[in-house]
Amino acid sequence: MSEKIIIFDTTLRDGEQSPGASLNVFEKVEIAHQLANLNVDVIEAGFPVSSQAQFDAVQQIADSVDAIITGLARSIENDIKAAGEALMNAPRKRIHIFIGTSDIHIAGKFGDSRYGYNLKEKQSTIMQMACEAVAYAKSFTDDIEFSPEDAGRTDIGFLTEITEAVIEAGATTVNIPDTTGYTMPQEFGKKISDLYKCVRNIDQAVISVHCHNDLGLAVANSLSAISAGARQVECTINGIGERAGNASLEEIVMALKVRSNYWDYHTDINTEEIYNTSQMVTSFTGMLIQPNKAIVGENAFAHESGIHQDGVLKKRDTYEIMTPASVGITQNKIVLGRHSGRHGLASRLESLGYTLSEEQMGNVYQCFLDLADKKKEVFDEDLRILMGDDSENKNGYFTLEYLHVNIGTSIIPTATVRIAFDGQTVEESSTGDGPVAACINAIKRSINLKDSLAMEHYQVRSVTEGKGAQGEVMVRLRSDAGTYTGRGISTDTIEASVLAYLQALNNYVYLQDVGTLFQKISKA
Ligand code: KIV
Ligand code: ZN
Repeated sequence: MSEKIIIFDTTLRDGEQSPGASLNVFEKVEIAHQLANLNVDVIEAGFPVSSQAQFDAVQQIADSVDAIITGLARSIENDIKAAGEALMNAPRKRIHIFIGTSDIHIAGKFGDSRYGYNLKEKQSTIMQMACEAVAYAKSFTDDIEFSPEDAGRTDIGFLTEITEAVIEAGATTVNIPDTTGYTMPQEFGKKISDLYKCVRNIDQAVISVHCHNDLGLAVANSLSAISAGARQVECTINGIGERAGNASLEEIVMALKVRSNYWDYHTDINTEEIYNTSQMVTSFTGMLIQPNKAIVGENAFAHESGIHQDGVLKKRDTYEIMTPASVGITQNKIVLGRHSGRHGLASRLESLGYTLSEEQMGNVYQCFLDLADKKKEVFDEDLRILMGDDSENKNGYFTLEYLHVNIGTSIIPTATVRIAFDGQTVEESSTGDGPVAACINAIKRSINLKDSLAMEHYQVRSVTEGKGAQGEVMVRLRSDAGTYTGRGISTDTIEASVLAYLQALNNYVYLQDVGTLFQKISKA
């Protein structure tokens, strides 16, 4: 009988820390439901103390999703309290506590002499903080995970000591993160074996790993750690995450499944939900998958050369080690259109992994009909986009009421926009170097926003095929306080650009609160 590997998904926490990927509460809850369909064991839903939006998302997921739900906390009472409160109603909850343990992290974060005068003293303070944090977290739940941050570069002697101490204090999982993606597979595997040899009470906790992909080795390191005794892996859908990302869930799971003749381990993942989950994460985060990405990339099952095509047609396994169906890629060609009923739409969305209330379904059906008016045939890809598309900013602070653009080969592009916000409607016109610039200038004028938010990134792509293809525009704005992304979808790319720009402004309002925006507006 093979041993089970626990799958801990951190798409909503570490994944959301990817530059440019910000998710609102609705999107996080939707993804969490899909992670439950995928049957992950643990969902890290966020970092509750870091903002009200993070707290709300963790709370709503804890209230409604069936899996172990965890929230991240530094080894600080206030963080742990916020996590405990956000997770209050979860039938199965875990608090995940971390503290930096490598010499580099200690020098950077605990340089102050109140933590000790030399490395030894600082290590002892850190160990005490970690144990106190674990003991305090126990007042909220028995299920406590502890991570010595930057374990990949932590001295093995100190790593052994702190692992033993936190288990003694009550940690039930100890996670060994390769925070900077620095280690090599054999080296990381050895670190895990060494812990098994040296930590006296290691049998009283699950050993987990959390690998980053800075050198492209996150999956290899995770598999090496499994060989050495790790029984939980932390990973994200599509491998999104800080910098170069985290270990990709789909690659680890399929490596264990496809090579079950090599490994004596299995996961409980429902692999046929992998593709739906991957597509949902892509459409909500706007983070595109490279076409040659293993398992879920557009080309993962495409055979280009004649020899390969011929081979696959004669006998699939000549060039394929797994079937597209095993990860949920089907040849389903059901196409919806103007005359499709609400019921047909609901069942198609359900099979794509979306869970909607009656009220949400009503709104989505109306958007679907609007789209079907513009586009005769509505494919699965269109539906995913529709679900990931809040670009009309229905719940946003700013909404677009009207847009008119004049362009031509011998005229200066001019745009008029009418924007509704805060119970008022404002209309302004402006010119620009091109039609999109004219629209943005008109928006800035109508809300009196000058240059305090700089446009850092602008990208257009076609997301569906054929006549009436939908265009997606991503924008990223930067202010002193951070970056704000927006996505707009339309069959008209100028309208998509305006919607994306407004969504970025709405994200600013959502994350920073409207008072700050207006301070900026009036200062500008
Ligand atoms: O990479 C890391 O060290 C983390 C920890 C918080 C587990 O994300
Ligand atoms: Zn991480």
